Order: sequence, then C-alpha cells, then structure tokens
Amino acid sequence: MTTLTSLPVAPLLERLFAESDNARVPALAAFAALPPTQRASIISSKTGYREIYADLKEAALPVSRETGTLLYMLARSMKARTIVEFGTSFGISTLHLAAALRDNGGGHLITTEFEPSKAQRARSNLADGGLLELVEIREGDALETLRTGLPEQIDLLLLDGAKGLYSDVFRLVQDRLRPGALIVADNADYCPEYMTMVRAPQGNYLSLPFAEDVELTMKLS
Ligand SMILES: C[S@@+](CC[C@H](N)C(=O)[O-])C[C@H]1O[C@@H](n2cnc3c(N)ncnc32)[C@H](O)[C@@H]1O
Repeated sequence: MTTLTSLPVAPLLERLFAESDNARVPALAAFAALPPTQRASIISSKTGYREIYADLKEAALPVSRETGTLLYMLARSMKARTIVEFGTSFGISTLHLAAALRDNGGGHLITTEFEPSKAQRARSNLADGGLLELVEIREGDALETLRTGLPEQIDLLLLDGAKGLYSDVFRLVQDRLRPGALIVADNADYCPEYMTMVRAPQGNYLSLPFAEDVELTMKLS
C-alpha cells in the first residue's frame, strides 16, 4: 500500500474530486460560456489574474485525476525530496505530491496561493490527510513568495497557477532545479513564452506534451 492509495488520503481525494465535479460555481459557468478566443486571452493574461482567480475562489480547479496520479508516480520514481508548486487551490495536487514525499521517506514541499480562503482550505485538507507537516503554504503572489527562500536544490516543480505567469515563475525557480529535475506544467499551451523557454532546440531542457493537458519537461544539466 502507498500513502496515496490508503487511508486517510485515498477517500479524502475521492471526496475532493467528487465535490469539485459536482460544484456549481456561477463564476466558473459564466467563464466557460465565453467565446473560446476571449477565454483563451483571459487565461493567458499576465495582468488581471488576481481578479479572475478571486472570482473563482469557490472553485477547486484541480489537476485531473490522471495528472494527480502522474505527479505521485514521477515524484516517487525520482525519489523527490524537494518540491515547489505554483497554485495550491484546495490542495488536491499538493496531497498527491506530499503523499509521494511521505513514501520517499520525507521531504519539503513549498506551495503558494494568493487566495487566503483557499490556502486555509488546503491547510485543512492536508491536515485531514496527515500530510501538513511536509508542506509549507506560502500565502501571496507567487511572483513574491517564490522570489526568496527556495531550497538549494529542487527536484520537481509543478506549474498550475495563472497560466500567463508560467515563464515568470519558471525564471524564479529554474536555477535551483537540479540536473534531471522534472517540471510539470498544466495547460502550458496558454503560455507560449514558457513553451519557447523549455522547447528551445539547443536549450537545457527536454520537453514534450504529455497526455492531453500537461507539458512534461526535464532539466538536462
Ligand atoms: C488551477 S488552480 C490550482 C489547482 C491545484 N494545483 C490542484 O490541482 O488542486 C490555480 C490556483 O492558483 C492560484 N493562483 C493563480 N495565480 C497565482 C499567483 N500569481 N500566486 C499565487 N497563487 C496564484 C489561484 O488562486 C488558484 O487557486
């Protein structure tokens, strides 16, 4: 058995995913009803993201179940000990990553969220999963909270906050990523600048689209 697939984490994740599937968040429905080009331009924006996510503060917006399991598998197989996450929300992805740290023998996960109510929900969910001690939740804008105080070496980075900021957040973290580090970026297509950084032909990264919605990247040296 693993921490991910046993009590208390497995039923907790089942409940959180089900609540997210069944939630009726008017702001999310209104957003989904926008024409695709308008939606894409809002999602990609480097400005105004604060207001957009404030409107969506009742929505969990989690990674898919498959991406969650992928995160656990990657973190386990690379024996990750230090993880950074951009975009905590209710902590669903965080639970997967922290479960991997627990099964790797311990570690430290820094995650960041600017909506105080979401950070509080994540804290409570991580406590329910018995994983809070592995996680540092930095409240505030990732552009500030990840600017300082990062570990010397980072094994894995999850990008899942405002899509338009992926390149900026990546710049803050990239020097600390160890050779062989993995970066999982959810819906990275909305940040062309990030895609250019990790897919540069002579660059220090190998990168490819994985499943439907993930860009999986490895730092070479
Ligand atoms: C897609 S959700 C994250 C879902 C989470 N990773 C999961 O799978 O459970 C994105 C979250 O990032 C937060 N966010 C967006 N931009 C941010 C920023 N610049 N700094 C901190 N948090 C941010 C939003 O408030 C939102 O809760």
